[in-house]
Amino acid sequence: MVPFLPGSWIKPSLAGLKTNKNVMHETLQVLQKAEQYGYSAIVLTVDVPKFGKPLLTKGMPFRLPFHLKYGILPLSPQDIKPEERTLDDNCCSWDELLWLKSVTKLPIILKGILTAEDARLAVKHGVAAIQVSNHGGRVLVDGPTTLEALAEISEVVGGEIDLFVDGGIRTGADVLKALALGAKAVFLGRPILFGLHHSGSNGVLEVLETMKEQLVLAMQSTGCRDVNAVPRNIVRKRPLAQL
Ligand SMILES: Cc1cc2nc3c(=O)[nH]c(=O)nc-3n(C[C@H](O)[C@H](O)[C@H](O)COP(=O)(O)O)c2cc1C
Repeated sequence: MVPFLPGSWIKPSLAGLKTNKNVMHETLQVLQKAEQYGYSAIVLTVDVPKFGKPLLTKGMPFRLPFHLKYGILPLSPQDIKPEERTLDDNCCSWDELLWLKSVTKLPIILKGILTAEDARLAVKHGVAAIQVSNHGGRVLVDGPTTLEALAEISEVVGGEIDLFVDGGIRTGADVLKALALGAKAVFLGRPILFGLHHSGSNGVLEVLETMKEQLVLAMQSTGCRDVNAVPRNIVRKRPLAQL
């Protein structure tokens, strides 16, 4: 398991960087701890400048059980009340990304990129990788699917940096499609939570093992021998009218 620092903690802090020295100090402390404890990368989430009502009310008023901790973050689940959660809509810009790069040795993965244009800018600003993500479709429900966005993005920057993807990956065949479209790896959100809720760590293991079996079957069925060389043409785009 590779520990990453979750981006959404950093992001609101970044928004306040220019005006708030305490925020900058707190951010630096967390980054220092991340390096000290062997974290491999920083994931900076950039797709939620503001929480809307659907996420907070209908979405699910998600909160961690109080006995859990947020790792190295100076927060506890008691500090976060879903109904009071808000984000500064003066969200971070490319300048804050450059600042973040200048104060950490860790590679930065930009999470939430959905267009080729933004991917190109991300590469220009020196990110180590892009995580194509729509926050699980929980924020802007009219946005593109992440596999569509991945296909567009991998065409323009695929050879230059690593691409990851998340959002709606539910089966091993979905993983194979993501690999075919240019992802180096996928991330899972809710499937892990569902497994955890069902039977704790065993439930999570079962989710992962089931997906792995499905991935192997999907590879056998499409003649793929190597996860690092999945041919693009196993995925076909059907016009919407035919769906
Ligand atoms: C309950 C819940 C809370 C989430 N909180 C965050 C968050 O704080 N920061 C973040 O970058 N993404 C957050 N996400 C989005 C996930 O990181 C991920 O992008 C998404 O769940 C992937 O889609 P999937 O659930 O369909 O696999 C959250 C997702 C869920 C379901």
